[in-house]
Amino acid sequence: MNITVIGTGYVGLVSGVCYARLGHQVICVDKEPGKIALLNAGGIPIYEPGLKELAEAGREAGKLSFTTNLQDAVKRSEFIILAVGTPSLPSGAANLAYIEQAAMEVAAAMDGYKMIAVKSTVPVGTNERLAELIRSRSDQPFDSISLPEFLREGSAIQDTLYPDRIVIGADSKHAADKLVELHRPLTEHMIVTDIRSAEMIKYASNAFLATKISFINEIANICEKVGADVTEVAYGMGCDSRIGSSFLKAGIGYGGSCFPKDTSALIQIAGNVDYEFKLLRSVVEVNQDQRFNIIRKLKMIFGGELAGKRIAVWGLAFKPNTDDVRDSPALDIIQYLADNGVQVTAYDPIAAPNFKSLLNREGIVWCGDAASAAKDADALCLLTEWEEFGSFDLALLQRLMKRPILIDGRNVFKEEHLLGTDFVYYSVGRPSLNQGVKEQMPVLQFHS
Ligand code: UGA
Repeated sequence: MNITVIGTGYVGLVSGVCYARLGHQVICVDKEPGKIALLNAGGIPIYEPGLKELAEAGREAGKLSFTTNLQDAVKRSEFIILAVGTPSLPSGAANLAYIEQAAMEVAAAMDGYKMIAVKSTVPVGTNERLAELIRSRSDQPFDSISLPEFLREGSAIQDTLYPDRIVIGADSKHAADKLVELHRPLTEHMIVTDIRSAEMIKYASNAFLATKISFINEIANICEKVGADVTEVAYGMGCDSRIGSSFLKAGIGYGGSCFPKDTSALIQIAGNVDYEFKLLRSVVEVNQDQRFNIIRKLKMIFGGELAGKRIAVWGLAFKPNTDDVRDSPALDIIQYLADNGVQVTAYDPIAAPNFKSLLNREGIVWCGDAASAAKDADALCLLTEWEEFGSFDLALLQRLMKRPILIDGRNVFKEEHLLGTDFVYYSVGRPSLNQGVKEQMPVLQFHS
């Protein structure tokens, strides 16, 4: 099939590269000439494992090309995918200006029947609104399809080539059949539904995953008070197939470009139809607070006084294997520390340049490796579970630091790592692993 993908962000670029991998003829379009020049020169504007190699293979096979010329790309394709950004407006609602603009440009370029799919995450009803826009600007025939995307940053290629399911929202049987055929090599698990339900499936999925995370984080906070271990609890819960084991890792809360944006948007979507999504509001609130547990633990250790301390931070990205720092909990944590007179020594294997573009101020020292960040630090906070942190020798870490104080925001270390060290160690929801903090098991009060 001849496919045009509009927008070369995570979703657009990964989708385009993967369709080319399936043998289709793919043109990726972006407005930014610099981005297209980089892609044409074999570069990749984002860090995503395996993407560069797959893009190169697609280009070499003559299956994948990059251009700023939307008009020409649309004319040469029967299937058009809109994958431009839908960032949050200050109200929390999704900003649809870019996708509307793209739809109008597609309409202006159409010279015959097209299938037009939206892969961007858009509020319920948007596909219909875009279809009206196109219809008002073109008399060419077309079918609208909602084709939500479920890839995760850091494992985007794997998620796209081996999806759990493909959701196709379409009113036209012809378009639905064509898209089922297109995706058949990826999975047999295809959900063909109406457009509005497909749009909702995307938001509901992200909101539910965010809910699982906030739920387990609250359980972790309670575990800390009652002397239970959240990793054991999550394992025990996850063995129930009705619950499932994924997205039950306690930590410092979710970040990234999707969960924060999509949860806010869904609250707005509900609000627009006079429904208060109370549960999701709490999920967002819990998530926003969870990151500050790091600060609370530091304050407890230092008797409330953080000013003048040197505190190392390992990990700036919102999760490992990506250089994305959008809505990363590290932003709020480091901002708070720097605001309160702490000297922060920060290290991330790849995300520091992006982080600096959002937060770069006095009080933050950028370090080239994990050891330099830890050197002479009064405490170390692990905020992203990059593999290199988990394999760092804790005896060496202790020697590097001024004081062996480790706040593990992602439960990376296990008891055996800590054996033979003098670390004051706090993680999330695992009070039995706390070391160097001679806490008694809490005496539980029972009220009849
Ligand atoms: C998320 C969804 O997982 C994808 O299915 C979806 O396609 C994507 O959003 C999107 O809408 O585009 P992503 O944001 O890339 O993907 O990353 P996740 O792996 O979902 O992680 C999100 C955040 O949750 C991270 O900050 C991670 O550290 C946190 N998390 C995840 C936890 O704190 N605990 C967990 O158990 C899992």
